[in-house]
Amino acid sequence: MNTPDKNNRFWRLARHPVADDFAAAIEFDQAPMPAPAEGQVLIRNEYLSLDAGTRMWMTARTDSYQPPIPLGSPVPGLILGQVIASRDPAFKAGDWVRAFGSWSDYSCVTPALSALQTVDASVSDIRQHLGVLGMNAWTAYVGITDVAKTRPGETVLVSAAAGATGMLAAQVAKLMGCTVVGLAGSAVKCQFLKEQLGLDAALNYKSPDFGAQLASIAGGIDVYFDNVGGEILDLVLPNMAHYGRIAVCGLLATYAAGEAGVGPKRFDQVLMRRLTISGFFSPDFMQRGPEINRIMRNWFENGRIKMHFDVTQGLENVLPAYRKLFTGGNIGKVLVALKR
Ligand SMILES: NC(=O)c1ccc[n+]([C@@H]2O[C@H](COP(=O)([O-])OP(=O)(O)OC[C@H]3O[C@@H](n4cnc5c(N)ncnc54)[C@H](OP(=O)(O)O)[C@@H]3O)[C@@H](O)[C@H]2O)c1
Repeated sequence: MNTPDKNNRFWRLARHPVADDFAAAIEFDQAPMPAPAEGQVLIRNEYLSLDAGTRMWMTARTDSYQPPIPLGSPVPGLILGQVIASRDPAFKAGDWVRAFGSWSDYSCVTPALSALQTVDASVSDIRQHLGVLGMNAWTAYVGITDVAKTRPGETVLVSAAAGATGMLAAQVAKLMGCTVVGLAGSAVKCQFLKEQLGLDAALNYKSPDFGAQLASIAGGIDVYFDNVGGEILDLVLPNMAHYGRIAVCGLLATYAAGEAGVGPKRFDQVLMRRLTISGFFSPDFMQRGPEINRIMRNWFENGRIKMHFDVTQGLENVLPAYRKLFTGGNIGKVLVALKR
């Protein structure tokens, strides 16, 4: 095995986090370097993808789309890295791969259980396999096209629009010829959405007159790509256009509350405005990755879609990086780089 390391450092979930106090819940530890068993692959993690959805798996709730992370076990997460040793003939040392591994220096995975895939190392920035060519992009694309059934010319609203999934959803809608309004939590992010991503408008949901700003969207909102749920969803519902569609991508504002997370108070508007609300989950359409990547790569290489990364160096710095997702500290995809 071509690694000088004897040990594998990793983060374990010791307790369920309270709010965004991840430091009290997640502990740094190490174990002997795993040796791949027959059929397994050992990966040296180069980048960790930090995802807001993992926050829900950190709770004790058992009614989610994913079982809770058992207390005491490594925190799972999507990783991008290079194969160090392989006991599966489909993968060889040196291959760049993406998989569900863990927040660790190395991930030892079983391909079929970890969605292990070789990625194209010829892309200009390998990180794009966690960006425009990764799962956030597939989520954004499928959410806007198939789930929301967005049509050119419609008005599309995207929450957490300066984050990884939101910025891709907003750009896909823009490329489809829609009027796109992004929601974000600061003036700087709103400026970024308009000036860097070319959105038609951006609203700061922390503004005192946010409700009035939503109400002034001409013709109402045809499509809401929602990453957040909570109070913002309640403010959006009465401002949907008739026959509007809401693609429920995430409910980030409610994850810390576990099963006590509240539903919308303005559910009445589903009837009054004849709305369609659909939840969707990216592992359900992983097989569409290659098809979506052909479209995304074309847009990316022609400068039509952009991805921003918020990169923190060092596995030991995972916690402040993860917290950004819940405090709004990031623009774009939050990554931890493990360059050694
Ligand atoms: N359905 C699926 O298959 C799927 C796949 C991937 C992601 N997702 C979902 O997509 C959402 C975004 O995830 P991500 O990993 O891409 O994170 P992200 O958007 O890169 O980061 C999260 C952003 O959400 C905003 N935010 C945090 N708390 C908020 C609150 N209480 N109210 C409003 N905005 C808040 C923050 O920006 P501000 O500064 O604007 O507040 C923060 O930067 C999550 O809900 C996640 O579960 C779903």
